[in-house]
Amino acid sequence: MKLKIAVLPGDGIGPEIIEQGIKACKAIGKRFNHEMEFNWGLVGAAAIDDCGNPFPDETFELCRNSDAVLFGAIGDPKYDNDPKAKVRPEQGLLAMRKKLGLYANVRPVTTFPSLIDKSPIRRHLIEGVDFMVIRELTGGLYFGKPQGRSEDGNTAYDSLSYSRYEIERIVRLAADFAMQRDKRLTVVDKANVLASSRLWREVSADVAKEYPKLKMDFMFVDNAAMQIIQFPAKFDVMVTENLFGDILTDEASVITGSMGLLPSASIGKHTSVFEPIHGSYPQAKGKNIANPLATILSVAMMFEYEFKLFDEANAIREAVKKSMAENYVTEDLIAGNPRSTSEVGDWIAAEILK
Ligand code: IPM
Ligand code: MG
Repeated sequence: MKLKIAVLPGDGIGPEIIEQGIKACKAIGKRFNHEMEFNWGLVGAAAIDDCGNPFPDETFELCRNSDAVLFGAIGDPKYDNDPKAKVRPEQGLLAMRKKLGLYANVRPVTTFPSLIDKSPIRRHLIEGVDFMVIRELTGGLYFGKPQGRSEDGNTAYDSLSYSRYEIERIVRLAADFAMQRDKRLTVVDKANVLASSRLWREVSADVAKEYPKLKMDFMFVDNAAMQIIQFPAKFDVMVTENLFGDILTDEASVITGSMGLLPSASIGKHTSVFEPIHGSYPQAKGKNIANPLATILSVAMMFEYEFKLFDEANAIREAVKKSMAENYVTEDLIAGNPRSTSEVGDWIAAEILK
């Protein structure tokens, strides 16, 4: 196959981890005989520094004209500490999601046997955890209008709004995922308080009628936050509002033992984007210590979801599992003798080629 991949490293540790993802890609190309073309684009603070726009048109065109996008991370402390900044790197990520129509963010949460004891949660609770959070990505609190400040500057507001159409398409997509798995779908909301959540319940119940074999249940988000830690093994697929999904998936990453392990796929109307969930981790930037596995696992998701190349995806996952089993990992996963970001990347690429 000929695969054209847009590479958007972004900020912080983005460039370092993306480099390891590309090594894995190239190794797969070599082993399975795929021709790969990589084209780089700017996004986030890196793009603001270059042209003042965190998601330049050029980058948008590049994404539109590619088969898939590999994305690193966005965010820079120089903007975090400046609430008055006119442009923010994160706007680049939101613009990318909106313009590419990436309405669904798929975040699988699984544990790796060799890492079970790295998790702060007790072994018997997390053994066999395998669930998936489908986070709505182009609506809700992140995008609701109006958003802003009152004239006197003393009040600020965000809006949480969803249309029937937006809820229907994400719940359907989540139901389709559930039907490939254990056929259980938990809709996470705050319907005891929020009007938007009550519409989510109504629409979800309608969608459920299209799936007679699907078992759908509803859970308040505060309860879900607790149950993800208390009984993580009981979930199959969860679907939820944008901000709820953002928060719950960071929480869920704790189960696996490190934030550096959770991959994701953002899918929708145009080209899909594959990205680790962990963010730009600016404290580690340039130090060659960040865990590249979430990115490498995102590459595996790209082969599986976008290209339907299952052997290729498995080859990556097997290599990742082996690196963990052999303790060839970065400092977040091991106390003594950690490997660097690039060493782990090289090791995994070599393993794929064995
Ligand atoms: C994520 C990140 C982003 C989000 C930030 C960087 C804007 O936390 O992808 O989860 O909130 O969506
Ligand atoms: Mg997040």
